[in-house]
Amino acid sequence: MTIKNLHYLSGLTITLFVGLHLFNHFISVFGAQDHIELMNTLRIFYRNIFVETILLLAVALQIISGLKLFNTNKKLAISAFDKLQIWTGLYLAIFFIIHLSAVFSGRIFLKLDTNFYFGAAGLNSFPFNLFFIPYYGLAILSFFGHVASIHNKKMEKTILGLSPKRQSIGILIFGFILTIVIFYGLTNHFNGVTIPKEYEVLIGK
Ligand code: HEM
Repeated sequence: MTIKNLHYLSGLTITLFVGLHLFNHFISVFGAQDHIELMNTLRIFYRNIFVETILLLAVALQIISGLKLFNTNKKLAISAFDKLQIWTGLYLAIFFIIHLSAVFSGRIFLKLDTNFYFGAAGLNSFPFNLFFIPYYGLAILSFFGHVASIHNKKMEKTILGLSPKRQSIGILIFGFILTIVIFYGLTNHFNGVTIPKEYEVLIGK
């Protein structure tokens, strides 16, 4: 199996989780409690030793193979979508390392339930939000940017009169709107979230 095939396979595995994960964040528009309840349900599927091991292995493979592909392809990327694919891939590799280190440190060392409040703490407190808004925003945009570039490369059919390129632009627009909607939910409709005492350690209190 080539590195490219491996990267594609682990990418598909991760995409399954990320689709559910972002849907979970989307549900925060209905309130923190709905987000927490859905996460508790989804955890039955992904937070067991079997699925979580596969997911973490896929992420590790994705990062290693992705960095190799970045190195070989960075000079070959000419079109805008090719460039988008390699740079969003690089960001996702860095994001995965930081995001998973944070989630597992929160769980293991800080003994926190890494739920809605774990994600929302940094987003809702100044000056931490100056880091967390671009950090999470670019992660969601990069995910859709990466998917859109691959779609543009692989898709050959016109759908509803839309060329593959236009479909890919549609994926980018969807990702952009979803990012705003998720921020709207995680910041309680931009009014801010009251962070429970046990999570204040995340924002230096
Ligand atoms: C607003 C953006 C995001 C926030 C607030 C966020 C927050 C979180 C939280 C709180 C967890 C812990 C889940 C749990 O304990 O069940 C988590 C896990 C995770 N997130 Fe995110 N996330 C965001 C975006 C992303 C994106 C864009 C990706 C991938 C492209 C991603 C990948 C993951 C992965 C792989 C896990 C580990 C799941 C596990 O093994 O338990 N996240 N995230």
